[in-house]
Amino acid sequence: MRLLGKLPTAALALLSTTSTATAQKVLDLSTAKWTLSNPIYNISVPGSVPSQAHLDLYSAGVIPDPYYGLGDFDLRWVAETNWTYSTVLDGLDTTSGTSTWLLFNGLDTFASIEVCGQQVASTNNQFRQYYFEVSSILSSCSTPTLSINFGSAVNITADIANEPDQETWPYGVEQVYEFPNRQFMRKEQSDFGWDWGPAFAPAGIWQPAYVIQLPASGIYIRNSLLDIYRQGQLNNLPPDQSQPWIVNASLDILGSVPSSATLSIEIFDINNTTVASGFLENVTTTATTIGGSVAVDGESCQLWWPNGLGPQNLYYFKISVVDGDQVLASVTKRSGFRTIVLNMTPISEEQLAQGIAPGNNWHFEINGHEFYAKGSNFIPPDAFWPRVTPTRMEQLFQSIVDGNQNMLRVWASGAYSPDFIYDIADEMGVLLWSEFEFSDSLYPVGSEFLENVREEANYNVRRVNHHPSLALWAGGNELENLELQLAAAADPGNDRWRQEYEELFLDVLLPAVYGNSKSISYIPSSTTNGYLVLNFSLPMPMIERYNNLTPGSIYGDTDHYDYDSVVAFNLSSYPVGRFANEFGFHSMPSLQTWQQAVPADELYFNSSTIQLRNHHYPAGGTFTNNFANSSKGMGEMTIASELYYPVPYHSDPIANFSSWCHTTQIFQADFYRSQITYYRRGSGLPERQLGSLYWQLEDIWQAPTWAGIEYDGRWKVLHYISKDIYQPIIIASYWNYTTGDLTAYVTSDLWSPASGVATFTWYNYEGSILGHPHTVPFSVGALNTTQVYADNTFTLPFSLKHAVLKMSVTATGTPPNTNETREYKHESYFHDLSLNDVKLIDPGLKLSYSKETGNFTVRATTGVAAWVWLDIPAGTLANFNENAFWLFPTDGPREISVKVKNDTSGGKWVEKVTVRSLWDNKLP
Ligand SMILES: *[C@@H]1O[C@H](CO)[C@@H](O)[C@H](O)[C@H]1NC(C)=O
Ligand SMILES: *[C@@H]1O[C@H](CO)[C@@H](O)[C@H](O)[C@H]1NC(C)=O
Ligand SMILES: *[C@@H]1O[C@H](CO)[C@@H](O)[C@H](O)[C@H]1NC(C)=O
Ligand SMILES: *[C@@H]1O[C@H](CO)[C@@H](O)[C@H](O)[C@H]1NC(C)=O
Ligand SMILES: *[C@@H]1O[C@H](CO)[C@@H](O)[C@H](O)[C@H]1NC(C)=O
Ligand SMILES: *[C@@H]1O[C@H](CO)[C@@H](O)[C@H](O)[C@H]1NC(C)=O
Ligand SMILES: *[C@@H]1O[C@H](CO)[C@@H](O)[C@H](O)[C@H]1NC(C)=O
Repeated sequence: MRLLGKLPTAALALLSTTSTATAQKVLDLSTAKWTLSNPIYNISVPGSVPSQAHLDLYSAGVIPDPYYGLGDFDLRWVAETNWTYSTVLDGLDTTSGTSTWLLFNGLDTFASIEVCGQQVASTNNQFRQYYFEVSSILSSCSTPTLSINFGSAVNITADIANEPDQETWPYGVEQVYEFPNRQFMRKEQSDFGWDWGPAFAPAGIWQPAYVIQLPASGIYIRNSLLDIYRQGQLNNLPPDQSQPWIVNASLDILGSVPSSATLSIEIFDINNTTVASGFLENVTTTATTIGGSVAVDGESCQLWWPNGLGPQNLYYFKISVVDGDQVLASVTKRSGFRTIVLNMTPISEEQLAQGIAPGNNWHFEINGHEFYAKGSNFIPPDAFWPRVTPTRMEQLFQSIVDGNQNMLRVWASGAYSPDFIYDIADEMGVLLWSEFEFSDSLYPVGSEFLENVREEANYNVRRVNHHPSLALWAGGNELENLELQLAAAADPGNDRWRQEYEELFLDVLLPAVYGNSKSISYIPSSTTNGYLVLNFSLPMPMIERYNNLTPGSIYGDTDHYDYDSVVAFNLSSYPVGRFANEFGFHSMPSLQTWQQAVPADELYFNSSTIQLRNHHYPAGGTFTNNFANSSKGMGEMTIASELYYPVPYHSDPIANFSSWCHTTQIFQADFYRSQITYYRRGSGLPERQLGSLYWQLEDIWQAPTWAGIEYDGRWKVLHYISKDIYQPIIIASYWNYTTGDLTAYVTSDLWSPASGVATFTWYNYEGSILGHPHTVPFSVGALNTTQVYADNTFTLPFSLKHAVLKMSVTATGTPPNTNETREYKHESYFHDLSLNDVKLIDPGLKLSYSKETGNFTVRATTGVAAWVWLDIPAGTLANFNENAFWLFPTDGPREISVKVKNDTSGGKWVEKVTVRSLWDNKLP
């Protein structure tokens, strides 16, 4: 083994004087002039790449905005017909000996490709990169036309389902939303509808496409893998952090790699200063790949850390294919040095001694450190990926970081994230638990299907492996904990379903990860009890635990939904596990968001359009355009609002609608807060709970969903509350309303102990203090919790109808990877279960804005204000540093700062900001 250092001068001279042999020619097909056509409907309009038919039809004025009104249902015809994208390939090099390739980074999905009227290939996987050599067709063709005919995914999957001997599953195993049969296609599963989204089933050239022309013996790098890990590291196991780094590169090539080729590497820091350079060792070459690796001294590179845990140091890695004195091709990828492991090893003796319950671990470790994963679940940010821009994603990721999150689970089954999203995550320090696109269904296991998946998985694992934000690969969503249970319940005693599950999620997908990367962990299912055995000398290193459980032991991660809002604040109804990977409840978006998508006369709670945009159907409720189905979701939100809050009866219908929407958001946020505090406190309890990722970060469209951020980026109440409760040091109450036992805990996710004081003050709703404030000094360990309060609400000298407890904490601690001491403050409020029953009075809220500071000031003058909310008018995307807080007259003025992301009002929006609290629901 050789540590990579400065290259000898002679080698450096070689690298700087060599030139790329003979230039490849790359024609970017986004610059070509495309036509989108459909003869049945007699449509021919300009097309674009990357795009999808709906988007081009909308640009051409053929269809309205697909997101408006009931476009989800009205535009079904677009999904049920064929669409052809065609162009003429201009400017091709016709020199003899040139080979010409078509390279598609994504075709969505069932496509038939013709060049010069001759069939080149058919494709059936949205997630694969396809490449075809078309030199011989072009040599006998005067006008080089390219035409790609996309079939209807809805019809084609129905045909596949009807093939003789096609696989079927027990009834109810496939969760069907708008269109059935999604398990037969390798296409975004939510394109056929989901409980939070529409079903457009779009088609088109959705990713960049190129024509590549190579001179004789030229090569082109179509994809590449960079894997950076600690020497000796194995997937899913914590590595030895004292080992040097191994940088392994492997390039996928068009053309053929000479057997004499070698690989050079140069590593630059973010300012382009060379850190190390040299040649890779142990180079292996096949006809279409070349790879090798080298050891790098850990002393010479700075680690990459997630948001809140240290800096996001990044480096460029330039890998070149060198043959003699020629550089044949090179690729530069930005990456970082970090290890990230999902540790599912058995609980050790040392851990048992710390009070951790037996079983296995289920937590992440970054660079050898346990940390608390704080975040949410990311769904496709749009039903049409081509309109997801870097600007939109930068704004969204800014909200994630501002919301104190460090991890997202990128849900299966949207699409594999484009590199630009990982790039943003690398820069902002947001870990992306990534998943293969399989969800809430069992899938076919025919050899063609499995081979198709193998190609898809290899391409995507290799494409994104270098991103330090990549945290994990999971096989799919809700499989072990839901699909296998459904199949077992429907078909007791039949092993077939589990065997087939393992054929896909162990035999195909695990090797796609382990065979390409040593740096990334794999789990077959997002929610899992982990493995029973992990042994790299076995042909299949992972044997799953499933329900092989010992009572009293704690194993995997948890997925929790309960739409009976009566038990929402009953802590006994929450699961006890090592990590919460999804949980939630839905709420309405704001009036401002509804106005973007719904006609003015439909802006009321149970209007047809509003109801039909609620896709949270009952189990088995799979029918289109059905009010009985939609009413489930609408009903659950109504019941929860009525149970816990005064509900609005304003005479102005728009104001009434707006208040209702807002009230559903308050319930949602409070329910999540209750669960998040419960999970976080678990970091210091026997479950040693180390993660909370709620469902779901953001919206795909304007509709009632589980999101905390609306389609255009507007924060719901939830995003403010999760920002608050994801701070490093928090105080929260835990109430058993059956026994009256009330406790409060301070929980810290810092990596060293912190100490401070907690203060408890009871108020009545006029804002007067009931009795003396009670102050408790405390210290809390690293990633731990400590009890700071105990009482019983049945023995209080006042009624909870007239009392609210304000809890505040001030602590000093040290942020991870710093030497500084910081002060942390947090506040929370305990009150009766229902704020409809307590004696809310008019708090006399006063709002003002200061041009000098750019800040707003709000104060409560006559009573306690519950859920104070500053509302931003339509047309402005901005967020406050805090919102949805309680305010007491004794607090004095509260100054609120604001971050503006988009403003169409020329700054005038500040005059239209309004303030309200829950008391406003009682206004006529
Ligand atoms: C797809 O199926 C629908 C409904 O059966 C039918 O109307 C339509 O013509 C079919 N489209 C194609 C391209 O066959
Ligand atoms: C529709 O597209 C599919 C997939 O490209 C193709 O197999 C089929 O022949 C096409 N049908 C028509 C009518 O163009
Ligand atoms: C890059 O340059 C900037 C500006 O000189 C400096 O602040 C920063 O520390 C440098 N970063 C590295 C990694 O050297
Ligand atoms: C580093 O080099 C790249 C490629 O030449 C250039 O685009 C980039 O601006 C450079 N960065 C700095 C900080 O100089
Ligand atoms: C290259 O292979 C040799 C022999 O197997 C091994 O000792 C060395 O560690 C390898 N180098 C790297 C960087 O993996
Ligand atoms: C959390 O703190 C308690 C009290 O100091 C201690 O007994 C326990 O071992 C700690 N837990 C961990 C996992 O460090
Ligand atoms: C609350 O008290 C009841 C009755 O004693 C008990 O069954 C339940 O487990 C307690 N819940 C919690 C979360 O401690």
